[in-house]
Amino acid sequence: MTTVITYGTFDLFHVGHVRLLKRLRALGDRLIVACSTDEFNAIKGKKAIFSYEDRAEILSACTYVDLVIPERNWEQKPDDIRTHKADIFAMGDDWAGRFDYLGTETGCIVTYVARTPDISTTDIKGVMRRIDEDRLQSIRNMVEGLRAELSKY
Ligand code: CTP
Repeated sequence: MTTVITYGTFDLFHVGHVRLLKRLRALGDRLIVACSTDEFNAIKGKKAIFSYEDRAEILSACTYVDLVIPERNWEQKPDDIRTHKADIFAMGDDWAGRFDYLGTETGCIVTYVARTPDISTTDIKGVMRRIDEDRLQSIRNMVEGLRAELSKY
């Protein structure tokens, strides 16, 4: 039984997340995802759209995920690895090198898998913001049009 563990916020669950979890699950027999709590996100300077409870529920519904646990701080990883007897600690390769120390500290294998290009929660938030701005602009145009019409009378 090979257990894999990973960490992340997983907000606005997208195909990059699905492909990462699929790749990680294929490394072993059991995948544990430590999902960042809202309080920990605040420490990291991140604000998720979906609450921790919703993000954890979405992750649990993913076929590649066997267990979701809360990620509450930066320091818990070695304890989690020991408690859950994780053999492999894995993250997307945007984190390459950052967690190598966990191998020395706990004896687990540390690996980084390819990140899916051209999609991220940040990108999705950007698109949503642009949609809002476009809608706002069309409302402004409408008001201007009405004002112009009214000024004729
Ligand atoms: N990930 C991935 N491919 C993507 C986006 C994310 O493999 N296109 C991986 C990350 O490498 C990480 C995990 O998914 O291991 C969770 O990342 P998270 O930061 O929650 O997702 P992002 O979409 O990168 O979110 P943000 O833009 O807020 O950083």
